[in-house]
Amino acid sequence: MTAYFKKQMDKESNRRIAADISAYGKEVIDSELFRKAFAQKHHTNTTVGEHTLNVTAAALRMCYALEKTGLRLDRRAVTIGALCHDLGIIGRYEKFENNRVCCRLHPIDSVRISRKLVPEIDHKTEEIIRCHMWPLNGWMPTSAEGYLITVADKYSSIRELLYRPALPLLRHETAGMILGALVCGAVG
Ligand SMILES: [Fe+2]
Ligand SMILES: [Fe+2]
Repeated sequence: MTAYFKKQMDKESNRRIAADISAYGKEVIDSELFRKAFAQKHHTNTTVGEHTLNVTAAALRMCYALEKTGLRLDRRAVTIGALCHDLGIIGRYEKFENNRVCCRLHPIDSVRISRKLVPEIDHKTEEIIRCHMWPLNGWMPTSAEGYLITVADKYSSIRELLYRPALPLLRHETAGMILGALVCGAVG
């Protein structure tokens, strides 16, 4: 493990994110399709895989903050929902005729894929994935966790689109840190 990843893993919140991904999302991150997500560009400056990890990290950070207020959230549903929400985008240029169709239909394909990767997936998690584009495609989230993912997705997308190497504060270090840690086996 590089010194950089070691330093990141010393941060308690990052360690928690990596542990939750490892506990709830192993079937997804170990899949061949998830590896493919790092080969397709998304939001100009990142890949589908990096975006996915950014959304997952942002959503889990929101969970930790909200849980401090006494709110109980389904972290398993949040983690799997975030990891699967955009997997339907992989192969978009072969699958969808244009960006508008992709925007409308990729959540449905993400649900189909998530059922294959996580056979025991529950209805709540499927709804989180199906409705993650709200309000852009009209399907309204049906749970607090669903709204949380829509916010984490928009927040991460804006950060990714604004990314410039000259603006170090907007770097996407979280995704690289978590992936590096998981690959290096820093978390169980
Ligand atoms: Fe999406
Ligand atoms: Fe997304």
